[in-house]
Amino acid sequence: TPAPRVFSGIQPTADSFHLGNYLGALRQWVAMQDTHDAFYCVVDLHAITVEHDPAALRRRTRVAAAQLLAMGLDQDRSTLFVQSHVPEHAELAWVLGCLTGFGEAGRMTQFKDKSAKQGTSGTTVGLFTYPVLQAADILLYTPDPGPGEAALQVPVGEDQRQHLELSRTLAQRFNHRFGATFVAPEAYIPKGAAKITDLQDPTAKMSKSASSPQGIVDVLEEPGPMRKKIMRAVTDTGSEVRYDEESKAGVTNLLRIFSALEGTSVEDLERRYEGSGYGQFKKDLAEVVVDAFTPIRERTLKLLDDEEQLDRLLAQGAGRASAVAARTMEIVRDRVGF
Ligand code: ADP
Ligand code: NA
Repeated sequence: TPAPRVFSGIQPTADSFHLGNYLGALRQWVAMQDTHDAFYCVVDLHAITVEHDPAALRRRTRVAAAQLLAMGLDQDRSTLFVQSHVPEHAELAWVLGCLTGFGEAGRMTQFKDKSAKQGTSGTTVGLFTYPVLQAADILLYTPDPGPGEAALQVPVGEDQRQHLELSRTLAQRFNHRFGATFVAPEAYIPKGAAKITDLQDPTAKMSKSASSPQGIVDVLEEPGPMRKKIMRAVTDTGSEVRYDEESKAGVTNLLRIFSALEGTSVEDLERRYEGSGYGQFKKDLAEVVVDAFTPIRERTLKLLDDEEQLDRLLAQGAGRASAVAARTMEIVRDRVGF
């Protein structure tokens, strides 16, 4: 039996991914290369749903792709591509948009949150139809329907569940109206994904939009500032290195990061730092973080240095994604009556 197919995307909205992106999603992308037929997409179309700077978008799209390759994505084991390189994403989004109710789209809680932040004049139709484009991203790579065909697996966090549900609904609605075309995608919970909180506010998630510079560690950050941020991470007035989400949220977050990056269980870490206080623990963690990200930073810079090589790798991914997407759209166009 062929490996199950997985699809996941990430926006190029910052000049670096952060520790939370890495431990909560991207490290699992790398691992799933060996268990899945994986399609990974840098979703630049999604990044223009809010006002953007073209030069920054172009730069961030390349930096995002380079970082993913530097983390271990490999075009021989998976397919990494840029969304705008495969125009079928926009084409299928139009078709699916015509199957989506206005009220149905308006019920998406992420739209409600984001549009509240943008205000009425800043809220675009693109932001409104964002989940429809996401459904198109996913359904383009759905395996051909057939007896016993496995569903496409989509790694999702809590905040994306409603969007995945919409893509399932749209798949079923399309099938009902036009004949069996899509296998409804399924949520996939990747093993070992860790939720990382803000270093200065351990009750909030580490986030590119909400965290202060001191609360977030970027993958591409230099070792100096990286060490400083870990050393200054908020803990508590105690001294015990112990996992306790309720009363020791800061230490617990640091233990999670340590455990995920070093591959040591939390229990073993608690034992190792018994009686030694936070200083030594943070100092060691800082080195673990620096050791994990330094090779990724160096490989990223090298990839960005060789423009032709990066172009070639991305063209390779786009070619493979296009082959699947074009086939899906051929069926969709025929069914719809084009
Ligand atoms: P989005 O692309 O939905 O705007 P982000 O860019 O914040 O979200 O996140 C990209 C990916 O990284 C998502 O899979 C998200 O679940 C994951 N992620 C983001 N922040 C964290 C965090 N603090 N801890 C764990 N995972 C995170
Ligand atoms: Na694979």
